[in-house]
Amino acid sequence: QTIHLADYRPFPFTLGEVQLTFRLAPAATRVLSRFTLAPKGGREDLVLFGAHLRLIRAAVNGAEIRAEPKDGQIRIAAADLPEGPFTWEAEVEIDPAGNTALEGLYMSNGMYCTQCEAEGFRRITFYPDRPDVMTTFRVRIESDLPVLLSNGNPVAEGPGFAEWHDPWPKPSYLFALVAGDLRAHPGQFTTRSGREVALNIWVRPGDEDRCDWALTSLKASMRWDEEVYGREYDLDIFNIVAVDDFNMGAMENKGLNIFNSRAVLARADTATDADFMRIEAIIAHEYFHNWTGNRITCRDWFQLCLKEGLTVFRDQQFTGDLRGAAVKRIEDALTLRDRQFREDTGPLAHPVRPSSFVEINNFYTATVYEKGAELIGMLKRLVGDAGYKAALDLYFTRHDGQACTLEDWLKVFEEATGRDLTQFARWYSQAGTPRLEVSEAWDEAGVFTLTLRQSQPETPDGVEKLPLHIPVVTGLLNPNGDELAPSVTLELTETEQSFRFEGLSTRPIASVLRDFSAPVILSHRQSDATRAFLLAHDSDPFNRWEAGRTLSREVLARLISEGTPPSADWLAAMAALLRDESLEPAFRALCLRLPGEDDMAATLAGSGLVPDPHHIHRARRSLQTTLARHLAPQLPGLIRAMTPQGPYSPDPTSTGQRSLKNMALALQTRLDGGAAAQSAWQAADNMTDQMAALACLIEAGCAGTALRAFEARYGGDRLVMDKWFMTQVLCAPPETAADVAEALTAHPKFDLKNPNRFRAVFGALSANHAGFHRADGTGYRLLADWLLRLDALNPQTAARMSTAFETLPRYDADRQAMMREELQRLKAAPRLSRDLGEMVSRMLG
Ligand code: ARG
Ligand code: ZN
Repeated sequence: QTIHLADYRPFPFTLGEVQLTFRLAPAATRVLSRFTLAPKGGREDLVLFGAHLRLIRAAVNGAEIRAEPKDGQIRIAAADLPEGPFTWEAEVEIDPAGNTALEGLYMSNGMYCTQCEAEGFRRITFYPDRPDVMTTFRVRIESDLPVLLSNGNPVAEGPGFAEWHDPWPKPSYLFALVAGDLRAHPGQFTTRSGREVALNIWVRPGDEDRCDWALTSLKASMRWDEEVYGREYDLDIFNIVAVDDFNMGAMENKGLNIFNSRAVLARADTATDADFMRIEAIIAHEYFHNWTGNRITCRDWFQLCLKEGLTVFRDQQFTGDLRGAAVKRIEDALTLRDRQFREDTGPLAHPVRPSSFVEINNFYTATVYEKGAELIGMLKRLVGDAGYKAALDLYFTRHDGQACTLEDWLKVFEEATGRDLTQFARWYSQAGTPRLEVSEAWDEAGVFTLTLRQSQPETPDGVEKLPLHIPVVTGLLNPNGDELAPSVTLELTETEQSFRFEGLSTRPIASVLRDFSAPVILSHRQSDATRAFLLAHDSDPFNRWEAGRTLSREVLARLISEGTPPSADWLAAMAALLRDESLEPAFRALCLRLPGEDDMAATLAGSGLVPDPHHIHRARRSLQTTLARHLAPQLPGLIRAMTPQGPYSPDPTSTGQRSLKNMALALQTRLDGGAAAQSAWQAADNMTDQMAALACLIEAGCAGTALRAFEARYGGDRLVMDKWFMTQVLCAPPETAADVAEALTAHPKFDLKNPNRFRAVFGALSANHAGFHRADGTGYRLLADWLLRLDALNPQTAARMSTAFETLPRYDADRQAMMREELQRLKAAPRLSRDLGEMVSRMLG
């Protein structure tokens, strides 16, 4: 059951070109496969994986053989194989229409599509379905549907068929096929060396006018990868397809990316600023995989972060370049803390490179993706920009066409820069969020000493924790607010180290961990006044925001645990920030946002307290009200000033203005019971403003009319209706969130088979902190009931959604007991999937 990194063995055969023929039929598709296998030396059994396949016939060198699929594979003993190279052929029957797991070949709204990463190809035919087996593919699709797509270049087409050839060797997880009645939104891109690339966004009829943004984003991504990484596209055609039923965001199949329609379709009246930005980032992410993932792939799934950490890092750089690095860095740090630190402090903690798994789909996590990206950022910081570039150039030349490991990756850095990364490599195998404690000393001789101390929590894997190599970017400020010296990168390699700054005339103010230079929890005792000073003066925008964030968190923590009202310093600092027109609106909006309830629960638990979700909820609301009262005179003016003129545009400036405006609207709603939100709702001419106003109306308890109007207008639009489902649960008061969610499951448009719709309701319930953790356990019970139902259809999404329970250890004994009871109930369920089974076992410990 459990797969271990240590058990890796190379595949003992080399594959020739794979030939696949698909005879498409909804419930009975035939797949014919043919390829040669040449032993690499020695005589070994042939193992081909296959799942949910009906084997019609198999042949070796043209002679039919009796193959017995067992436990998801066919094994043919070495003794029964010819001595030299031989040809394998098979014909299988599969049922795309009945495939609700959305892995392998399945149907979504009448179209055929595939999702093969990680191990979906084995649901298509028997194959060495592992990423280190790479070869070229020739694919023939037979169907009457008008559009028939696969990877690579089209080579032949006629009535009822199409043939594709992909000249780039690839593992099976990058295979894709699409067939349906689709419309293309076409475009064109000329690479810097002059290759003309035909671009297409393929959608269902009716969605053609929602493709512009994706195409614009794709072209920007192609250009950026040429300019920044020197990477060009390598086929004459690049297709993107939008699919309504999809487990994840999108998939980087060679030359044929398949996207969840919510990650590609956008129009001003159907998508919010956040949607536009997410689409831009995901288009870039999948495109960037063409080099980091496809041309150079992973040897095995333990190396997943080799492609994902790097590609996330690259898409973050891209967004930073397009939209402003400071705001992007803050948003990434927020996501990391919300999702990855949360994962890291619970029973699901695992290293960026796990050492074992039961179901690999359970490891497409914030740790592998987001912490994986942070490791790249630290490496870049340690070797410098020039070193990073040299290392990446070496990586691309040395490993093009290969399936690699993290050792290969670190080695190019060592060779290109001469640095020893032995200690840095521990970041890949040690789970848990390190803590970094900072203490200061000042002596009158003008020496300022910073002492850094690292510690690491124990994690469920029981791995022994050795000190990490941590880059700590640090700056010193004069009391007048000037920078004393440029930032330096302190390299912490011991458990504790002191760094001296000499020849100073006055005691400086230290700004530590600038730009969030390492994914750690910083504890640096500073007074409210010092934090307010940094919020006003730090030259590092991240730490400027961070100082305000820490201050807000401390203010809120004191209100929760001691009932202490917010300090005048904090209120004054917030008001000053709001007025400071030298600051970007997006940055100001981020500064005004209070830490979320889940964040506060983590904070309290981190300092040894037991969080009470309702208490946190009430305290946070009351702090918002206090803040709103204090800022009241400025709010209406701000709402007016931050309303962009002219037609909607998702550019960085307008997006930032709307985020500040809608932040002000939310505060205003705390004061006027929804009056301003009513007018904002009436005036809204784009989905961002509509959703912001709607959320305010729900929170103010007066959204009935608006919700009905919204449903009447958008009832036929799946993506927009997801928002309607989601926001009602997310913004519901804690007492009713679970009831609202339950009522929505009875709505005719609730659809268990559509992951987006399921997530809209139950993702929102899990994200409604106090609602999910309602003291009577109804939130837990409702989620568990529906996870069970979903698991029977779609194990992967059920497993993913079960992470709502991962924070179990934080809470009081009663809540813990109720959560355990639900997990036990899941565990005992007959026919529980391997996916959900693994998650539940890990969470129960
Ligand atoms: N490689 C895809 C991406 O990050 C994710 C697809 C993973 N899918 C899965 N079923 N595990 O862009
Ligand atoms: Zn990816």
